[in-house]
Amino acid sequence: MMDTQDSPQTSPQAARRLEDIPRMPDADLMGSFGFTTQQRLAFQRTLSTQSAPLVRGRVLHLPVYFPCTPEAAHEVLVTRAKSFEKSPGFRVLLHYLAGQGLFTSEGSLWRTQRKMMSTLFQPQPIQQYADTMREVAERAADRMRDGDRIDVAHETTRIAMSVVGKALFDVDTFDEADALGGALTTALGWVNRNLATPALVAHVMGMDAAGALADRTSGRVRTWFQEAQQKLEAPFLLPGVRDPELLSAVRLVDDRIQRMIDDRRKQGLTRQDLLTKLLTAKDPEGESEHMSDKQVRDEAVTLFVAGHETTATALAWSMYLLARNPALLEKARAEADAFGDGPITKWDPSKLEFCTRVFREAMRLYPPLMMLPRRTLEPVEIAGYHLPAKTLVFVSIYSQHYREDAYPDPEKFDPDRWLPEREAERHRTSYIPFSAGPRFCIGIHFAMLEGPIVLATLLRRWRFDIDPTRVIGPDDFATLRPKGGVPAVVRAR
Ligand code: HEM
Repeated sequence: MMDTQDSPQTSPQAARRLEDIPRMPDADLMGSFGFTTQQRLAFQRTLSTQSAPLVRGRVLHLPVYFPCTPEAAHEVLVTRAKSFEKSPGFRVLLHYLAGQGLFTSEGSLWRTQRKMMSTLFQPQPIQQYADTMREVAERAADRMRDGDRIDVAHETTRIAMSVVGKALFDVDTFDEADALGGALTTALGWVNRNLATPALVAHVMGMDAAGALADRTSGRVRTWFQEAQQKLEAPFLLPGVRDPELLSAVRLVDDRIQRMIDDRRKQGLTRQDLLTKLLTAKDPEGESEHMSDKQVRDEAVTLFVAGHETTATALAWSMYLLARNPALLEKARAEADAFGDGPITKWDPSKLEFCTRVFREAMRLYPPLMMLPRRTLEPVEIAGYHLPAKTLVFVSIYSQHYREDAYPDPEKFDPDRWLPEREAERHRTSYIPFSAGPRFCIGIHFAMLEGPIVLATLLRRWRFDIDPTRVIGPDDFATLRPKGGVPAVVRAR
């Protein structure tokens, strides 16, 4: 589906001039502060109508380029991926919480970790979590009563948090009521409040300036700038970073995970949870030893954070979109009912084929992460243009998903777009909810197993009366959540 093997191709035409890249004044919105989700989405819709491979805008005084066509996005994410790093803002914000986990690390650390962890996330080993996914969804359904007023988005968050909590730490009750879940929610709230703020941009600029000065100096001065750059990897200057609630949340995460690591070691590493597997994982090529406790901690928190909010968001939109399309809802219910009283469990694509297409189409319309911010590590040619080192390039997932040439009538919720023959007609980078290339989501099989199982389990058990006339828009959050949630009344079937 998504590979990392494409070899770079050199453009046949001579390098084009950067000034010739069409400038989109709207693109500056992406770099202005206080812009709303609606403005960001409107801009990305405009992006989806462009035929030029790249357009440009500005973040403060810096130029930023947006690949518009799937071919240009493919070059950035796949064929020229080696020439890019993730833009450092996320790394800084997640420093205390996820440290050097897979999402934020770069270079050789990332390569070794990705190799070590990839084996754990292949479709086969992931199968073992299917029962957990079903059980957690059934438990959530058990708690509901006829006539209950619920927020579907809140329920799917609890479910996804419990699933990843059980898979990672083998604990049964794991939601935001749990101390660890609560602490992670507090810390994530802080990250979210600091995303795309002037303070964060200024912080990253300071870090870059220290790096640039280190490159131009020598001796003790150089060491001083290098240390300053290193220190600025931590967000110690950002607002609220010394807030006692945040500090105690991070301390609690550290303590609890360290205690779990110690327990696993005492018990002889016999459990089947991912934490134990991280502790025993080895580089398949034997180049490195086991991970340090600190690395295991960073990876565990990263998986927890990356693994629940995204899936929960996609599930909430799936339920909402089905409610607005009664015929499709009936079809999804019929698929769930076909399991009879038996468990909706082992991954059998033919049995959850329609729910899978619903889940995929929901992620097309509302990709949980809508933008992939990147920065060039070295001069690189994209779509025939030479981009210098340290150039910002933002790949919009959202705009790819709304291109009319790939998705006629793009607003329409149409799970049939995912029939194999229709999918085969599209460029593979037209659909990138999990990104593409070497940094694509390691949890893709986990999410694609969990989404359809949870969806079918809930639909089989209850009717969720969601006002089909109520239009719910996306919210301003790290993920594209439904604004105000998805209110529903639970009804017996
Ligand atoms: C519907 C659910 C999900 C969506 C839409 C999603 C989306 C993404 C995207 C777009 C990226 C790439 C970010 C970038 O390149 O800047 C990513 C990376 C990642 N995801 Fe997911 N994700 C989902 C579920 C999960 C799950 C269930 C897990 C783990 C249990 C997970 C773990 C990760 C990790 C560790 C990375 C970093 C991978 C690397 O850089 O090597 N994700 N995800």
